[in-house]
Amino acid sequence: MIGLADSLISLAPMKGHKPVLPEETIEFLAAKNGGYFLDCTFGGGGHTELILKAADTKVLALDQDPEAGERAKEFERAYGDRFQFQRKNFSDIDQIEEGPFDGILFDFGVSSYQLDQTERGFSFRGDAPLDMRMNPESDRPSAEEWLAKASRSELIEAIKDFGEEKNWRRVVDAIIEARAQESLHTTKALSELILSCIPAKQRYASKIHPATRAFQGIRIAVNNEIEVIEKGLPAAFERLKPNGRLCVISFHSLEDRIAKNLFRQWAGRPAPGDNRPQDMRQRRASLLTRRPTQASDREIAANKRSRSAKLRALRKAET
Ligand SMILES: C[S@@+](CC[C@H](N)C(=O)[O-])C[C@H]1O[C@@H](n2cnc3c(N)ncnc32)[C@H](O)[C@@H]1O
Repeated sequence: MIGLADSLISLAPMKGHKPVLPEETIEFLAAKNGGYFLDCTFGGGGHTELILKAADTKVLALDQDPEAGERAKEFERAYGDRFQFQRKNFSDIDQIEEGPFDGILFDFGVSSYQLDQTERGFSFRGDAPLDMRMNPESDRPSAEEWLAKASRSELIEAIKDFGEEKNWRRVVDAIIEARAQESLHTTKALSELILSCIPAKQRYASKIHPATRAFQGIRIAVNNEIEVIEKGLPAAFERLKPNGRLCVISFHSLEDRIAKNLFRQWAGRPAPGDNRPQDMRQRRASLLTRRPTQASDREIAANKRSRSAKLRALRKAET
């Protein structure tokens, strides 16, 4: 028998964005007729479509990227009043009027659409202005502007902590030197600079492009990705109905740690820094995943992006 995930993997177009952990996400969200769901990271609408197809549901989808808003128009045409899109950063969930919701989903990071469009500046392949903003219309600095002004400690945070790049010292020093010569304007210049900092042995042994980690770190800093998650997740939890489900898919250990600690706290378990006696902790949710769910070998073979995906899910308490 072909399951939902199998049909999705085989029917998915070669281009575009394949939703990760499709079957697992739908199972944890428990989409049922009449259910109202919030997809905080619409992207290509892969997960939204699964929710809309699983039952007679409604979905409110958010994304900060104007191009995701364009893709959402097709969903508006196909699903009518079952689907609504708002262009928003999910850190502003507390400002939306809709809800409460039976299920809320976060699928962090960038979409394949964003990565594949060279001119958005997310990719070390090709040559483009260094932008990397998921919302290029925001008043936040582009990657080029950010790299020109970031302090040494901000650069270290981006390359070492967000990027988990082993050669962070060399990369940070090289960026500081290059920006003094005003030579950091394009993805190609940045990628070549990073490559020059990675010892040849590591470069050849690496399964991923040697600039992947530093690019990821700079993207996380440019989009303030850690802070918005810290703000968005608690706001989303408050928007869940009693018994509502929250699913969080992360791709980076820092993202997963935030979800893990908040989930523990809501489940009334000790979280780092919480030294209260156990009976003082309120249990507001139960965990549906003790350890994060990860993609099967089959999914990884069909969708490389799923390799590092971790899904955590909880059910909010009844009262
Ligand atoms: C990994 S993709 C989501 C893919 C989607 N689940 C699918 O199956 O097509 C992440 C999307 O979330 C958006 N995004 C990331 N951070 C966001 C934020 N803080 N607020 C709103 N949208 C965000 C990105 O622009 C991107 O389109």
